[in-house]
Amino acid sequence: MSKLASDQSLVQQAQQTLRDNDRGGYTLPTAGLYPFQWNWDASVTALGWASFEPARALEELDWLLRGQWGPQDFGGGNDGLIAHITFHTHADSYFPGPQEWGTQALRLRTSSISQPPLHATLLRWMLDLWKFEPNKPLAGVNTAQAAIKIIAIIEKLVRHHRWWYRCRDPQQTGLVVNIHPWESGMDNSPAWDAPLSRVPETTRAYTRKDLGHVDASMRPPKSYYDRVVYLMDLNKALDFDPVRIMQECPYRVNDIGIISILQRASMDLAALCERFGLADAARELGQHVQRTQAAVGALWSRRWQQYVSRDAISGDLLDVPTCAGLLGAYAGFEQASGETARKWLSETPFAFPSTRSVVASFEPQRYWRGPVWQHMNLLIADGLASAGHADLAAETRRRSMQLFEQSGFWEYYHPITGQGLGGPRFSWTAATYLFWNASGQR
Ligand code: GLC
Repeated sequence: MSKLASDQSLVQQAQQTLRDNDRGGYTLPTAGLYPFQWNWDASVTALGWASFEPARALEELDWLLRGQWGPQDFGGGNDGLIAHITFHTHADSYFPGPQEWGTQALRLRTSSISQPPLHATLLRWMLDLWKFEPNKPLAGVNTAQAAIKIIAIIEKLVRHHRWWYRCRDPQQTGLVVNIHPWESGMDNSPAWDAPLSRVPETTRAYTRKDLGHVDASMRPPKSYYDRVVYLMDLNKALDFDPVRIMQECPYRVNDIGIISILQRASMDLAALCERFGLADAARELGQHVQRTQAAVGALWSRRWQQYVSRDAISGDLLDVPTCAGLLGAYAGFEQASGETARKWLSETPFAFPSTRSVVASFEPQRYWRGPVWQHMNLLIADGLASAGHADLAAETRRRSMQLFEQSGFWEYYHPITGQGLGGPRFSWTAATYLFWNASGQR
């Protein structure tokens, strides 16, 4: 088959993956294993829709934001929170499902924690891809109405960023905190082992569902689940009060992934606010960006020559080199190192594994302890390109494309063999391919 023909059939397969996972307004990450709408998945998935059904891309974000917490929810302290899962329907194939989080009082049930806020950045990329102008035609879209929708989305995202800064950095240190490993999106990263060891194991009974879908060798052990369930229950026991949770939660981490993604998203959101006439919000976001820029040096690892996370309770660096620490260039941080990225690329064949392969905690097939996630490659490559490392960005893209061609659209991949792992026919993986393919050299 010619290269062009094989590209076209991959495009068709990727589009079909999104269509198959589409539930009429929102997209499942993959049927069975993840039967609801996930937060950062929705942003990445919207990028994929953007390449062939622009209206559907905006709808994905709109459906996610329907679950955003408001001033009327649980005393209003979490106004602006976008949860990590939105339960648009009931499904029995996932634990912890809608009954478990204690959020029955919401109009639309969600979990009670968040996830990396990619939305504003990827919304901006989408508008760039479309060369969006309110009066310029765009396939199947009334652009004047779309502009109104986009402004509504931007306003909700401003509330979301305010939630992060107000609730998760009340002392205004510049470095937000997360209170659950699942908030990082990199749920089982070895960087969380030390802070999680301080968390009690729950003694209540529960039934995991993930092991019915995926082999145990790719998923976290029971002691991990006992602790994450404890943290979920604690949030409920504290009535989701953001002040008490920041005082009493035994797991508090300055996660470099969230900090970098929030930083970049605040810059992009400020630019969107400027563009759509919300200059005050743009200024406010700019102040947060400056504060983070001044503080992030504390998370630099001299040993690994990259950023790492920090235990916000003990103050110790969580000195594990993960792919999240390579987002420095993407976030515009001053110390971002292309040389470190080059080293990583020399060590494994498919761009960036979730944990650097030279450390003892690297496990090539276990969830976030080694496998490659393709949307992370996309973000890291964008940063490398903007920091002047066009060669490294192009190499990351080339190797990622090879992985799609070799193995299709899996949840994650073995970083050495390229074998697809975790859930099959995965939405954000297909979406990453579609966007990368549609956007040329990004
Ligand atoms: C897993 C991942 C998380 C993702 C979710 C749905 O929980 O760790 O990042 O959002 O699956 O794909």
